[in-house]
This record gives sequence, structure tokens and C-alpha cells, in this order.
Amino acid sequence: MSDNPFMKRAYQLKDQGETQAMYGDWAESYDQTMKDHDYQSPRRIVEALQRHCPDRDAFIFDVGCGTGLSGQALAAGGYTHIDGSDVSPEMVAIARSLDGIYQNLDVVTLDNPFPFDDGHYQVITAMGVIADKHAPPETIDQLLDKLPQNGLLIFSLNNHTLENPAYMAACHAAQSSGKATILEQESGPHMVKLGMTSKIMVLQKN
Ligand SMILES: C[S@@+](CC[C@H](N)C(=O)[O-])C[C@H]1O[C@@H](n2cnc3c(N)ncnc32)[C@H](O)[C@@H]1O
Repeated sequence: MSDNPFMKRAYQLKDQGETQAMYGDWAESYDQTMKDHDYQSPRRIVEALQRHCPDRDAFIFDVGCGTGLSGQALAAGGYTHIDGSDVSPEMVAIARSLDGIYQNLDVVTLDNPFPFDDGHYQVITAMGVIADKHAPPETIDQLLDKLPQNGLLIFSLNNHTLENPAYMAACHAAQSSGKATILEQESGPHMVKLGMTSKIMVLQKN
């Protein structure tokens, strides 16, 4: 377990209100925390995206963009059209201060979490977002609905999240219903300094 107070708080969250309050308090030091813990999921997600989306000008939407570490990883991978959103105004304020990463950023509410037109984005990413007391398992189906045919949904599920079978069940249900195909589900490092792992899921809308 990390000594970082926010990392401890992250595993004691009781509801979304506490989640949003935590990220509000964490925003200023979040990037340093993730650096200290050697956060690898964004890099792995972008490497997965590069395997399936050679078009670096594809329109990408980064759900739960936070302070923008995820957008920075996408830009480092050569992607040029990145929009994003988050429920935390404090996290988005930091993402907005980054130069040349995001074209558009929105603060969203849980009542209307994905305020963009169906089919507009070829790729939707969610890095560290689909998790307990964060975005729930049904988010996977909702995001697939927002994609065009052949669009890609790429996200991480960390080892704590995977203890709840509902997240993988949502992926398998999307495949068995014919809505999407699971192209990859690769396990690997998440936060190296904590020994945490994640699965990078790549789903393609049918
Ligand atoms: C671990 S951070 C990841 C941020 C960024 N994607 C990254 O890789 O650094 C999780 C983010 O998800 C956001 N979040 C939590 N619940 C959410 C929800 N239901 N919908 C969208 N974003 C949410 C938080 O505000 C926070 O910025």
C-alpha cells in the first residue's frame, strides 16, 4: 500500500460524491503521484491503439481525462485530434492548461456523462476511469453506443476492479450480443511501484 494519502483515500471511497471530492483535492499533486508510482496504463493503451488505429488523425474522445496524462500519452503516440471530459472541474482545469494536447475539454455531470453526437469519434479511451466508485460497468455498453461501426473502445481495468466480475461480464455480454468484438485483453503493469496490474481491453463496435 502506498503512503500517499490520496492513494489510501482512493480505496476507501463510499460513493461518487467522495470520488469527486477526492479528485478535487488531489488535482494539484495528481501528476506527481502517478509519476512516483510509475503509472503505465496510458502508455499501454496507446500502444494497443497504435496496433488497431494507424490513422493518427482519427477523432479520439478521452473519457475521464483527469489532468491530461491520458491525452499526453495519446499525443506522444502521434494522435492529433483529441477531445476529452471529466466530472472533476479541478482535474479538467489542469488538463486545460496543457498546450497543444486537447482541442476541446468539457466538465460533465453523471446525468449527462457523454455529451457528444453518436458516431462522431472513431476512438473512445477511458484510462483509469472504469472502476469501482468511478464509471460503473454499464459505461462499457453506453460508450459502445456512442461509436460508429468499426469504432474502437479502449480502456484499462485494474486488478482491484477485476475482482468485481461485473466489468469483464459487461465486455463478454457486448461480444455475445454481437454488439462488439473483443480484439485484445492484455494484462500488464498498471502502477509498477505498487505491484498493481491492469488489463487493457480493446473492443471494436460491430
Ligand atoms: C485515475 S484518474 C485517471 C485520469 C486520466 N485518465 C489518467 O489516466 O491520468 C480517474 C478520473 O476519472 C474521473 N471520474 C471518476 N468517475 C467518473 C465517471 N463516472 N465518469 C467520468 N469520469 C469519472 C475522475 O474525476 C478522475 O479524473
